[in-house]
Amino acid sequence: MSHDKNTTNAAKPDHADPKQQQQDRRQHPCPTEPSGRAISGDGESRKGRRRYKRTAEHEARTRERLKAQSKKEWAQFDPTDPNLTRWRLVSTERADHPKDIRCKAVITDPPYGDTKHDWEPKHLEGFTRKWATQWNTCGADFVAVFWSPLRLFDGYPWLAESLTNYGFQQMLVVVYRNNIPACNKLRFRHKYEPILLFRRKGCATPIYPDHNMHIFNVFRATKPQTNFNNDMMRCHPCQKDVGVFRWLVDALTQPGDLVADPFAGSGACGIAAVQLGRRWYGIELVEEYRTTAMGRLFAYGREGYHTDSDKS
Ligand SMILES: C[S@@+](CC[C@H](N)C(=O)[O-])C[C@H]1O[C@@H](n2cnc3c(N)ncnc32)[C@H](O)[C@@H]1O
Repeated sequence: MSHDKNTTNAAKPDHADPKQQQQDRRQHPCPTEPSGRAISGDGESRKGRRRYKRTAEHEARTRERLKAQSKKEWAQFDPTDPNLTRWRLVSTERADHPKDIRCKAVITDPPYGDTKHDWEPKHLEGFTRKWATQWNTCGADFVAVFWSPLRLFDGYPWLAESLTNYGFQQMLVVVYRNNIPACNKLRFRHKYEPILLFRRKGCATPIYPDHNMHIFNVFRATKPQTNFNNDMMRCHPCQKDVGVFRWLVDALTQPGDLVADPFAGSGACGIAAVQLGRRWYGIELVEEYRTTAMGRLFAYGREGYHTDSDKS
């Protein structure tokens, strides 16, 4: 039997009954080539496409490639160069002392004792007071800190007393619109996270200077979780939506400004900063997260440097 397309088309009049056409489509949902192979929407053979499969070997190769790439691109980081969108991600022991970093905003999501990961500090108060005191002298106009709703009233004085050059401005809120199951019977489940915003004393930098509109103090975001196939898409246990960081970076800084994040995790803040034409300086303790962040920054950012790559 001939599979000539024209013959097949000729059998179907242009003015065919739409109901009949719908029924035909149900019976033959996928049109076929003369060879009998399925044709996808753009006419390409589905069989011809190679399916992407993630393997440990592939991931290791990707890591090596990224390291080599960052080594090649490594150059002296110049925080005073406003024309380049660059980021730098360092490990904690290689971090320059925050007092040497002059940035426009510190936007960070520090450990706040809600998880059982190794990187959670043993003494949350001492840890929080220490890092906040170190960043107190970085000259940023704003310090925005994600914090735990459970420890809000403990953590607020630790931060406010350590950031002596800053005054508390307001609390912002991220609301998660995911359908998180309400399975905790002892307390209400969290649907939000607070962000404590501090402003340097005497600084009158406007927020959203280029926007002629009112922006509210609540941002709706998704929690990076799973896709529609139930594959886990989260690459860090406490990963935040890049959109939340874009909201903050856009409001608090201008293109070319330097944004710092001392607890970079998967690099969500860096991605937002680089996408919006800011420079970014990130510090992350765990090597695995640094690799993840670096991959994401290379994928979504434009230029980048990673200090740990020149170790090897
Ligand atoms: C809440 S997570 C940040 C998640 C990040 N916002 C994201 O979207 O992926 C806190 C991060 O701080 C890191 N961390 C903990 N102690 C640190 C330290 N002393 N110096 C630098 N990073 C540290 C942890 O490894 C963790 O990745």
